Amino acid sequence: MSGVITANPALHAALKEVAAEMDRRFDALLKVPDDPRAPLYRAMRHATIGGGKRLRPLLVFATARLFEVSRDAAGRVATALEAIHVYSLIHDDLPAMDDDDLRHGKPTVHKAFDEATAILAGDCLHALAFEVLADPATHADPFVRAELIADLARASGPSGMAGGQAMDLAADGAQFDLGTVTRLQQMKTGALIGAAVEAGAILGRVAPEGRVHLRGYAHDLGLAFQIVDDLMDVEGDEKLAGKKLRKDGEQGKETFVSLLGIDRARQQSRLLVDQAIDHLRSYGAEADLLRAIARYVVERDR
Ligand code: IPE
Ligand code: IPE
Ligand code: MG
Ligand code: MG
Ligand code: MG
Repeated sequence: MSGVITANPALHAALKEVAAEMDRRFDALLKVPDDPRAPLYRAMRHATIGGGKRLRPLLVFATARLFEVSRDAAGRVATALEAIHVYSLIHDDLPAMDDDDLRHGKPTVHKAFDEATAILAGDCLHALAFEVLADPATHADPFVRAELIADLARASGPSGMAGGQAMDLAADGAQFDLGTVTRLQQMKTGALIGAAVEAGAILGRVAPEGRVHLRGYAHDLGLAFQIVDDLMDVEGDEKLAGKKLRKDGEQGKETFVSLLGIDRARQQSRLLVDQAIDHLRSYGAEADLLRAIARYVVERDR
């Protein structure tokens, strides 16, 4: 997972900085207690520290900077988003789901520990996310905190990530059409990406009407992101990805690539990224990081 992540120096620096900050924050939140819960905490540390692109945290920071949100508030919200994401990966890798042994170039949590610990580590990260958001240190206004919590809950639950995961499991061997796969991916991956973008605006007290362009950006970015994940599953390098690839086809899973073919899926991802960037036209240079993230999403190799 090391080496050059992107050729854009500003984005490269931002990704590195966010990665270091997430490591620091999870380290501080997850001190291993001297009691029988020690393996549970070690499992959470294994999953949260030192891995992942930290795309969702970076999106929180990139949106927060449009509205002059404090760095600490954005950092706390970014941690909550990443905690949900990491929990979703721990459970996604379980034998009952994708049954994967490798994540971020390391053994998955149920391999390094055991299945019960992996399930509980996921449960705890899920709870931790909402505990962090509910803390007055995240925002002085309880209405802002409640909105952050409600938005992340919606994005994580049956109408978001977990619902999308259920549809994804049903996609094994099913004949889903492009509309169904699009809806599945919007829930499974798009919802959390959308919540990350939106969270920066909620922290900045932007009313829902003022978030329309950002929602459009997040929608197109989320789809492009998942198309690239599906493309990497077919064409990617396992060492760079740090996870097992060629699984979707093996499982007979309908994805953007199986439905569109490699070339059209690649074309579609580029089109979506152009569209995502176009949604930012009312913003100036302060949105350049969001633009760079969009380009990175289709250029990435991991
Ligand atoms: C992988 O997400 C799982 C999907 C939602 C497709 P990422 O590619 O963002 O995972 P990490 O955290 O960077 O490993
Ligand atoms: C996982 O999707 C999505 C979530 C965890 C919500 P995938 O199963 O495609 O992710 P990878 O390829 O294992 O990272
Ligand atoms: Mg999966
Ligand atoms: Mg998986
Ligand atoms: Mg995948």
